[in-house]
Amino acid sequence: MMDVIGFGALNLDKIYRVDKIPREDEEGFVKDVEFHPGGSAANTIVGLSRLGFKTGYIGKVGSDGDGELLLKDLKNENVDVSGVIKAEGRSGNALIFVDEKGNRAILVDPGVNDTIKFDEINLKYVSKFKLLHLTSFICKNGLDSFLSQKKLVNSIDMKISFDPGMVYVERGLNDLMEILKNTTIFMPNKTEIEMLFKEDYKKAARMATELGIEVVVVKLGKEGCYIYDGKDEVFVKAERVRAVDTTGAGDAFNAGFIFGYLKGMDLESCGKLGNLVASLNIRKVGARAGLPRYEEIKEILPI
Ligand SMILES: Nc1ncnc2c1ncn2[C@@H]1O[C@H](COP(=O)(O)OP(=O)(O)OP(=O)(O)O)[C@@H](O)[C@H]1O
Ligand SMILES: [Mg+2]
Repeated sequence: MMDVIGFGALNLDKIYRVDKIPREDEEGFVKDVEFHPGGSAANTIVGLSRLGFKTGYIGKVGSDGDGELLLKDLKNENVDVSGVIKAEGRSGNALIFVDEKGNRAILVDPGVNDTIKFDEINLKYVSKFKLLHLTSFICKNGLDSFLSQKKLVNSIDMKISFDPGMVYVERGLNDLMEILKNTTIFMPNKTEIEMLFKEDYKKAARMATELGIEVVVVKLGKEGCYIYDGKDEVFVKAERVRAVDTTGAGDAFNAGFIFGYLKGMDLESCGKLGNLVASLNIRKVGARAGLPRYEEIKEILPI
């Protein structure tokens, strides 16, 4: 049996250090560039893989060098890529421009990410996993991938975790209802769940469990997290850490929490583990740089 399969965008983040971020009709100069594979679900899956889980991915890459790089990276991280579709076109990209003062401008090219059709997904393969982890697609190049997620949650019988991100929250509660009703672990941050349910996060978490969600985990940044399962509520304080780069903090948290959940830990321990993996990740620059291996945390595991 395999453990966790992710379903979300695959992006290559290209971080350009520039002398200035040009305005219309201006020029700027690139001083340096770094490529970092990203995508929210992919970051979480890599986190789980480093913790020793057997993982896979449903996503799409283009017929370009970026696609090769994204695939090679997942393979290097021991993620099974037989569910990743290769298509004509561009791979997903985020062009990130950072000037000397640290100001940022970002251009996102969803490329082929948004074009995953339901019949491109192998249901038999997906059902080999214990849990499906869903994150958002931008939906700027069509709704195919989002619609496939909705159809998939109704076509399988397995646990589902769902981190909507702001992109899906902005679509509104109705548009997410099908996914929410099939979700086992719902993993938004505070701003997202409050915007989605138009209530404070505790009330919103109750409303979410009334839809049939088993566990709601609200990420509270440096405060930690709040967990509600329809019966008990738990606050778990964040680790004290000097944050260097919080990119991917939420994705790292998800990896720790899901790991604990599938190992049968209680909710408080799952929250602790989420906070721990996130805290290790934000001590280093990059969305995945600080994601720990099992050996690095096994001594401090709650069980
Ligand atoms: N300054 C911090 N100190 C310690 N832990 C932190 C800090 N910031 C974030 N974390 C940890 O990271 C987790 C997730 O962060 P956050 O609540 O910002 O999620 P998010 O908004 O979904 O993040 P992302 O932008 O990556 O999607 C928190 O629950 C906490 O465990
Ligand atoms: Mg998030």
